[in-house]
Amino acid sequence: GFVLESDRVKLSLPTGESAEILLHGATVISWVVDGQEKLFLSEKAALDGSKPVRGGIPLVFPVFGKSTEGPTAALPQHGFARLCKWELLGRTSEADTAIQVDFGLGPENLTDDQRNQWPYEFGLIYSVNLSMSSLETKMLVRNEGSETFDFNVLFHTYFRIPDINNLTIEGLKGTSYKCKVTKSEAVEEEVELPVRSEVDRVYAGVPNAVQVKNGGETIFKVGGTNLEDIVVWNPWEGASKMADFGPEDGYKNMICVEAGAVSKWHSLEPQSVWEGSAVVNI
Ligand code: BG6
Repeated sequence: GFVLESDRVKLSLPTGESAEILLHGATVISWVVDGQEKLFLSEKAALDGSKPVRGGIPLVFPVFGKSTEGPTAALPQHGFARLCKWELLGRTSEADTAIQVDFGLGPENLTDDQRNQWPYEFGLIYSVNLSMSSLETKMLVRNEGSETFDFNVLFHTYFRIPDINNLTIEGLKGTSYKCKVTKSEAVEEEVELPVRSEVDRVYAGVPNAVQVKNGGETIFKVGGTNLEDIVVWNPWEGASKMADFGPEDGYKNMICVEAGAVSKWHSLEPQSVWEGSAVVNI
Protein backbone atom coordinates (compact mmCIF):
# COMPACT_ATOMS: atom_id res chain seq x y z
CA GLY A 1 0.00 0.00 0.00
CA PHE A 2 0.92 3.62 -0.49
CA VAL A 3 -0.49 6.48 1.56
CA LEU A 4 0.44 10.13 1.09
CA GLU A 5 -0.12 12.38 4.09
CA SER A 6 0.63 16.10 4.28
CA ASP A 7 4.25 15.65 5.33
CA ARG A 8 5.07 12.00 4.64
CA VAL A 9 4.64 8.84 2.61
CA LYS A 10 3.75 5.50 4.14
CA LEU A 11 4.58 2.25 2.40
CA SER A 12 3.35 -1.18 3.39
CA LEU A 13 3.27 -4.73 2.12
CA PRO A 14 0.41 -7.23 2.51
CA THR A 15 2.75 -9.28 4.75
CA GLY A 16 2.94 -6.42 7.29
CA GLU A 17 6.29 -4.74 6.62
CA SER A 18 6.15 -0.96 6.44
CA ALA A 19 8.22 2.19 6.03
CA GLU A 20 7.59 5.87 6.54
CA ILE A 21 9.40 8.66 4.71
CA LEU A 22 9.14 12.37 5.49
CA LEU A 23 9.16 14.78 2.56
CA HIS A 24 11.48 16.84 4.77
CA GLY A 25 14.91 15.59 3.78
CA ALA A 26 13.27 12.52 2.18
CA THR A 27 14.16 11.06 5.56
CA VAL A 28 13.09 7.49 6.22
CA ILE A 29 11.91 7.62 9.85
CA SER A 30 10.46 4.16 10.30
CA TRP A 31 11.03 0.65 8.99
CA VAL A 32 9.01 -2.13 10.55
CA VAL A 33 9.61 -5.85 9.98
CA ASP A 34 7.89 -8.59 12.01
CA GLY A 35 6.15 -5.91 14.02
CA GLN A 36 9.48 -4.49 15.18
CA GLU A 37 10.88 -1.04 14.50
CA LYS A 38 14.33 -1.40 12.93
CA LEU A 39 15.41 2.26 12.95
CA PHE A 40 16.29 4.46 15.88
CA LEU A 41 14.45 7.77 15.99
CA SER A 42 15.23 10.17 18.83
CA GLU A 43 12.14 11.04 20.84
CA LYS A 44 13.28 14.67 20.62
CA ALA A 45 13.84 14.60 16.85
CA ALA A 46 12.35 17.58 15.00
CA LEU A 47 10.14 16.23 12.20
CA ASP A 48 8.77 19.59 11.08
CA GLY A 49 11.63 20.62 8.80
CA SER A 50 13.23 22.99 11.30
CA LYS A 51 16.40 20.87 11.50
CA PRO A 52 17.76 17.56 10.21
CA VAL A 53 16.06 14.52 11.71
CA ARG A 54 17.96 12.92 14.60
CA GLY A 55 17.40 9.32 13.60
CA GLY A 56 16.07 7.24 10.75
CA ILE A 57 18.03 7.71 7.52
CA PRO A 58 19.01 11.34 6.89
CA LEU A 59 20.62 11.89 3.48
CA VAL A 60 24.08 13.35 3.22
CA PHE A 61 24.79 15.30 0.00
CA PRO A 62 26.85 16.96 -1.48
CA VAL A 63 29.37 16.96 1.39
CA PHE A 64 30.03 14.59 4.27
CA GLY A 65 30.95 16.43 7.47
CA LYS A 66 32.06 20.05 7.28
CA SER A 67 34.42 21.28 4.57
CA THR A 68 36.72 24.12 5.40
CA GLU A 69 37.91 24.66 1.83
CA GLY A 70 36.80 24.05 -1.73
CA PRO A 71 33.39 24.41 -3.39
CA THR A 72 31.42 22.92 -0.46
CA ALA A 73 33.03 25.08 2.26
CA ALA A 74 30.00 27.36 2.51
CA LEU A 75 27.60 24.47 3.15
CA PRO A 76 26.54 23.30 6.60
CA GLN A 77 27.69 19.95 8.00
CA HIS A 78 26.47 17.05 5.79
CA GLY A 79 25.14 19.39 3.09
CA PHE A 80 21.59 20.41 2.22
CA ALA A 81 19.82 17.20 1.14
CA ARG A 82 18.65 16.44 4.68
CA LEU A 83 17.38 20.00 5.14
CA CYS A 84 15.27 20.40 2.01
CA LYS A 85 11.72 19.46 1.27
CA TRP A 86 11.87 16.90 -1.55
CA GLU A 87 9.35 16.42 -4.31
CA LEU A 88 7.42 13.21 -4.37
CA LEU A 89 7.82 11.74 -7.85
CA GLY A 90 5.55 8.81 -7.14
CA ARG A 91 5.60 5.11 -6.81
CA THR A 92 7.50 3.39 -9.55
CA SER A 93 6.55 -0.18 -8.81
CA GLU A 94 4.31 -2.10 -6.54
CA ALA A 95 3.97 -5.83 -6.12
CA ASP A 96 2.99 -8.11 -3.25
CA THR A 97 6.61 -8.47 -2.26
CA ALA A 98 8.05 -4.99 -2.86
CA ILE A 99 7.07 -1.37 -3.25
CA GLN A 100 9.20 1.58 -4.36
CA VAL A 101 8.77 5.31 -4.10
CA ASP A 102 10.92 8.01 -5.71
CA PHE A 103 11.73 11.55 -4.60
CA GLY A 104 13.44 14.33 -6.52
CA LEU A 105 15.56 17.33 -5.58
CA GLY A 106 17.07 20.05 -7.74
CA PRO A 107 18.22 23.67 -7.42
CA GLU A 108 14.57 24.78 -7.68
CA ASN A 109 13.93 23.15 -4.27
CA LEU A 110 16.77 25.01 -2.57
CA THR A 111 16.65 28.36 -0.84
CA ASP A 112 18.53 31.23 -2.51
CA ASP A 113 21.16 30.93 0.20
CA GLN A 114 21.65 27.24 -0.46
CA ARG A 115 21.91 27.84 -4.20
CA ASN A 116 24.56 30.47 -3.61
CA GLN A 117 26.43 28.14 -1.29
CA TRP A 118 26.60 25.44 -3.98
CA PRO A 119 25.78 26.97 -7.36
CA TYR A 120 25.63 23.84 -9.51
CA GLU A 121 22.88 22.53 -11.77
CA PHE A 122 22.10 19.09 -10.44
CA GLY A 123 19.25 16.62 -10.22
CA LEU A 124 18.84 13.96 -7.56
CA ILE A 125 16.46 11.04 -7.65
CA TYR A 126 16.19 9.14 -4.39
CA SER A 127 14.39 5.79 -4.37
CA VAL A 128 13.29 3.80 -1.35
CA ASN A 129 12.40 0.19 -2.02
CA LEU A 130 10.69 -1.80 0.71
CA SER A 131 10.67 -5.56 0.35
CA MET A 132 9.82 -8.33 2.78
CA SER A 133 13.25 -8.62 4.36
CA SER A 134 15.18 -5.63 3.06
CA LEU A 135 15.19 -1.90 2.56
CA GLU A 136 17.05 -0.47 -0.39
CA THR A 137 17.94 3.20 -0.70
CA LYS A 138 19.27 4.39 -4.03
CA MET A 139 20.60 7.79 -5.09
CA LEU A 140 20.96 8.94 -8.64
CA VAL A 141 22.99 12.12 -9.13
CA ARG A 142 22.90 13.94 -12.44
CA ASN A 143 25.01 16.89 -13.50
CA GLU A 144 22.64 19.07 -15.51
CA GLY A 145 25.02 21.98 -15.90
CA SER A 146 28.13 22.79 -17.90
CA GLU A 147 30.64 22.60 -15.03
CA THR A 148 32.04 19.46 -13.40
CA PHE A 149 31.21 19.15 -9.71
CA ASP A 150 32.50 17.00 -6.83
CA PHE A 151 30.23 15.38 -4.29
CA ASN A 152 29.87 12.90 -1.43
CA VAL A 153 26.77 10.81 -0.77
CA LEU A 154 25.88 8.88 2.36
CA PHE A 155 22.86 7.20 3.91
CA HIS A 156 23.19 8.18 7.57
CA THR A 157 21.36 5.13 8.92
CA TYR A 158 20.52 4.94 12.63
CA PHE A 159 19.79 1.30 13.45
CA ARG A 160 17.74 0.41 16.50
CA ILE A 161 19.57 -2.25 18.50
CA PRO A 162 18.77 -4.15 21.72
CA ASP A 163 21.94 -3.19 23.62
CA ILE A 164 25.15 -1.48 22.49
CA ASN A 165 27.07 -3.62 25.00
CA ASN A 166 26.16 -6.75 23.05
CA LEU A 167 26.93 -5.22 19.68
CA THR A 168 29.70 -6.11 17.28
CA ILE A 169 30.30 -5.19 13.66
CA GLU A 170 31.84 -7.72 11.31
CA GLY A 171 33.36 -7.12 7.90
CA LEU A 172 35.77 -4.26 8.58
CA LYS A 173 38.96 -6.20 9.38
CA GLY A 174 41.85 -5.14 7.14
CA THR A 175 40.17 -1.88 6.12
CA SER A 176 41.91 1.41 6.88
CA TYR A 177 39.95 4.03 8.74
CA LYS A 178 40.15 7.57 10.03
CA CYS A 179 39.03 8.00 13.61
CA LYS A 180 37.49 11.41 14.29
CA VAL A 181 37.51 10.83 18.06
CA THR A 182 41.27 10.32 18.41
CA LYS A 183 42.17 12.12 15.15
CA SER A 184 44.22 9.14 13.99
CA GLU A 185 44.40 6.62 11.19
CA ALA A 186 44.74 2.87 11.47
CA VAL A 187 43.86 -0.45 9.89
CA GLU A 188 41.05 -2.36 11.56
CA GLU A 189 42.28 -5.45 13.36
CA GLU A 190 39.05 -6.74 14.85
CA VAL A 191 37.06 -9.42 13.05
CA GLU A 192 34.14 -8.47 15.26
CA LEU A 193 34.41 -4.84 16.27
CA PRO A 194 32.82 -4.09 19.65
CA VAL A 195 31.44 -0.60 20.35
CA ARG A 196 31.87 0.11 24.06
CA SER A 197 32.61 3.85 23.96
CA GLU A 198 32.22 6.83 21.62
CA VAL A 199 33.02 5.87 18.03
CA ASP A 200 33.25 8.02 14.89
CA ARG A 201 35.19 6.31 12.13
CA VAL A 202 35.30 6.46 8.36
CA TYR A 203 36.30 3.12 6.86
CA ALA A 204 37.53 3.60 3.31
CA GLY A 205 37.04 0.92 0.70
CA VAL A 206 35.10 -1.76 2.54
CA PRO A 207 35.20 -4.82 0.26
CA ASN A 208 32.04 -6.70 1.29
CA ALA A 209 28.77 -6.34 3.13
CA VAL A 210 29.07 -5.49 6.81
CA GLN A 211 27.16 -7.35 9.51
CA VAL A 212 25.71 -5.72 12.60
CA LYS A 213 25.46 -8.37 15.31
CA ASN A 214 23.73 -8.65 18.65
CA GLY A 215 25.30 -11.25 20.94
CA GLY A 216 26.96 -12.86 17.93
CA GLU A 217 23.78 -13.07 15.86
CA THR A 218 23.46 -10.98 12.69
CA ILE A 219 20.60 -8.50 12.97
CA PHE A 220 21.42 -6.32 9.93
CA LYS A 221 23.49 -6.89 6.85
CA VAL A 222 24.55 -3.67 5.09
CA GLY A 223 25.66 -3.93 1.50
CA GLY A 224 25.51 -1.81 -1.58
CA THR A 225 26.66 -0.80 -5.00
CA ASN A 226 29.09 2.05 -5.71
CA LEU A 227 29.20 2.99 -2.04
CA GLU A 228 32.72 2.03 -1.06
CA ASP A 229 32.88 3.43 2.45
CA ILE A 230 31.29 2.73 5.82
CA VAL A 231 30.99 5.24 8.66
CA VAL A 232 30.45 3.91 12.17
CA TRP A 233 29.14 6.41 14.71
CA ASN A 234 27.81 6.34 18.25
CA PRO A 235 28.03 9.52 20.34
CA TRP A 236 27.92 7.57 23.65
CA GLU A 237 27.37 9.89 26.63
CA GLY A 238 28.09 12.86 24.37
CA ALA A 239 24.50 12.32 23.21
CA SER A 240 23.38 14.28 26.28
CA LYS A 241 24.93 17.40 24.74
CA MET A 242 22.70 17.12 21.67
CA ALA A 243 19.51 19.09 22.16
CA ASP A 244 17.52 16.74 19.93
CA PHE A 245 18.77 13.39 21.27
CA GLY A 246 16.49 11.46 23.58
CA PRO A 247 16.16 9.59 25.79
CA GLU A 248 19.50 10.48 27.32
CA ASP A 249 20.62 6.84 27.41
CA GLY A 250 19.20 6.21 23.92
CA TYR A 251 22.73 5.82 22.60
CA LYS A 252 22.59 2.31 24.08
CA ASN A 253 19.88 1.42 21.60
CA MET A 254 21.40 2.82 18.44
CA ILE A 255 24.33 2.42 16.11
CA CYS A 256 24.92 4.34 12.93
CA VAL A 257 26.41 2.16 10.21
CA GLU A 258 26.37 4.42 7.19
CA ALA A 259 27.05 3.30 3.65
CA GLY A 260 28.44 6.08 1.52
CA ALA A 261 30.93 7.49 -0.92
CA VAL A 262 32.73 9.91 1.39
CA SER A 263 36.41 9.10 1.79
CA LYS A 264 37.15 10.84 -1.50
CA TRP A 265 35.33 13.19 -3.83
CA HIS A 266 33.35 11.81 -6.72
CA SER A 267 33.64 13.98 -9.74
CA LEU A 268 30.69 14.27 -12.10
CA GLU A 269 31.11 15.76 -15.55
CA PRO A 270 28.40 17.77 -17.31
CA GLN A 271 25.47 15.64 -18.42
CA SER A 272 26.78 12.60 -16.55
CA VAL A 273 25.00 10.41 -14.06
CA TRP A 274 26.20 8.56 -10.97
CA GLU A 275 24.20 6.00 -9.06
CA GLY A 276 24.81 4.34 -5.71
CA SER A 277 22.64 2.16 -3.54
CA ALA A 278 22.62 0.62 -0.09
CA VAL A 279 20.70 -2.51 0.79
CA VAL A 280 19.98 -3.47 4.37
CA ASN A 281 18.90 -7.06 4.89
CA ILE A 282 17.37 -8.40 8.06
C1 BG6 B 1 28.46 11.17 11.57
C2 BG6 B 1 29.77 11.89 11.63
O1 BG6 B 1 28.28 10.57 10.34
O2 BG6 B 1 27.42 12.09 11.82
C3 BG6 B 1 29.91 12.50 13.02
O3 BG6 B 1 30.85 11.02 11.36
C4 BG6 B 1 28.72 13.38 13.33
O4 BG6 B 1 31.11 13.21 13.11
C5 BG6 B 1 27.44 12.61 13.13
O5 BG6 B 1 28.82 13.83 14.66
C6 BG6 B 1 26.17 13.39 13.39
O6 BG6 B 1 26.15 14.57 12.68
P1 BG6 B 1 24.98 15.60 12.85
O7 BG6 B 1 25.32 16.78 11.99
O8 BG6 B 1 23.73 14.91 12.39
O9 BG6 B 1 24.92 15.92 14.33
